[in-house]
Amino acid sequence: MSKKSTTPFVAAAAGCAVMVLAAVCAWPVSAGTVEVAAMTEMKEPLTKQAGDADKGKGVFSNRKLGNCLACHKLEALKAQPFHGEVGPPLDGVASRYSMAELRLRVVDPKALNPDTIMPSFYKSEGFHRVLKKFEGKSVLTAQQVEDLLAYLATLKE
Ligand code: HEC
Repeated sequence: MSKKSTTPFVAAAAGCAVMVLAAVCAWPVSAGTVEVAAMTEMKEPLTKQAGDADKGKGVFSNRKLGNCLACHKLEALKAQPFHGEVGPPLDGVASRYSMAELRLRVVDPKALNPDTIMPSFYKSEGFHRVLKKFEGKSVLTAQQVEDLLAYLATLKE
């Protein structure tokens, strides 16, 4: 029994060790996870109600909501103080990405870059050591994300 089940394990692990060098180790990832790793966009809006760009502008600059300015510069909001430079400037971002690409970048940037310091704004699972009161809660609501996206859509070059 034990022999039967460990042999494929060892074989897979050995294969994996070789492939790690090429950074393409796909084991022991399930089919579902592979799909997430290959994800580059999120087409479906999170809400039925279309986003409101004005409200989204508020979400973007509110330090308690998006707080996007903490890490991103944005010329359009230069009247507001303290723009961070940790992330790329977001001027013209809607000319560089589709709405579906932007949605994934806000909802779960770690799906694209697991090492990014940008927070996932609409993902409440898979975090470690989350405070009890934040368990199961995302940073923004679905509607706030869609409002934010409507605002990002106005940032064209
Ligand atoms: C803690 C810092 C931080 C915060 C807060 C943050 N971001 Fe980011 N963001 C980054 C970094 C760093 C990148 C670069 C991509 C990466 O790290 O993979 C990035 C990339 C992006 C990109 C892709 C831009 C490009 O030109 O490739 C978008 C769009 C974006 N962020 C939007 C937002 C929005 C909208 C908010 C607020 C809701 C926000 N970010 C908040 C750090 C942050």
